[in-house]
Amino acid sequence: MDSTLEYRKIKPLIGTEILADKAGLLSGVHAGEIRRLLEETGVLVFPKIDFTDAEQIAFTTTLGKFAKELKGEEIYKVSLDKGQNATAEYLKGAFFWHIDGTMSPMPILASLLASKVRAPEGGDTDFCNTYAAYDALSDDDKTLLAGKRAVHTLASSQLEVDPQPSLAKYREWRAYGKNELPLVWTHRSGRRSLVIGNTAHHVVGMDPLESEELLIRLRDHATQPEFYYRHVWADGDAVMWDNTGTMHRATPYALDCGRMLHRTKLEGEEPFAA
Ligand SMILES: [Fe+2]
Repeated sequence: MDSTLEYRKIKPLIGTEILADKAGLLSGVHAGEIRRLLEETGVLVFPKIDFTDAEQIAFTTTLGKFAKELKGEEIYKVSLDKGQNATAEYLKGAFFWHIDGTMSPMPILASLLASKVRAPEGGDTDFCNTYAAYDALSDDDKTLLAGKRAVHTLASSQLEVDPQPSLAKYREWRAYGKNELPLVWTHRSGRRSLVIGNTAHHVVGMDPLESEELLIRLRDHATQPEFYYRHVWADGDAVMWDNTGTMHRATPYALDCGRMLHRTKLEGEEPFAA
């Protein structure tokens, strides 16, 4: 099989369209090049590839260690319909910029979403490159952020969805605990990325308002057009992102419209590190 991978960069700092056919992808012959482009450009689009669940699982497995869901399922149904997804309520946090897995020491490496039912309106997926955003910071900002850490909580992300929860609801969120992470992740490769998003509650040791302003300023910076890509779904599209070097969010859509994406994941390969 021809091991030359055909691809097209979407924007200089984020996104690559992978043009290989399905057989080529499933063979694993492109796995090394796909992993390289994933890390380099953050988001990979497989236009109208039309994976079945079995093909999606097989392709994911060519790229690393397959990560199962909590109850052992291989496919997670991304749907806000409670009939389809028991945790639909928490998914509403996905309408705001975030990194998956900030509550664990080792976040997943990547997720692959395959479109099954599109929203008639909205329901796009936005991405931004947090490696490129870090690189573009001023030297003063790089110095400011060096050694700084932020506390991440599930409550912080849920308060954006439900700003005035009952005390019982708030305590339910708090029970998920908290996780202190560096604001700047120095990866084993030596590259650095920002660790921010809607789970970041506050920067340790900073005045609360200064901390709030800094987190907003960093998000504003990281989501500027040059670091940003919006995927507007077409039938059969699949999209993968490097969860360790990007943030993502869904754009609003009618919750009862039937939108359905199937997700597979790759296990993390390195913990957050300063
Ligand atoms: Fe997410």
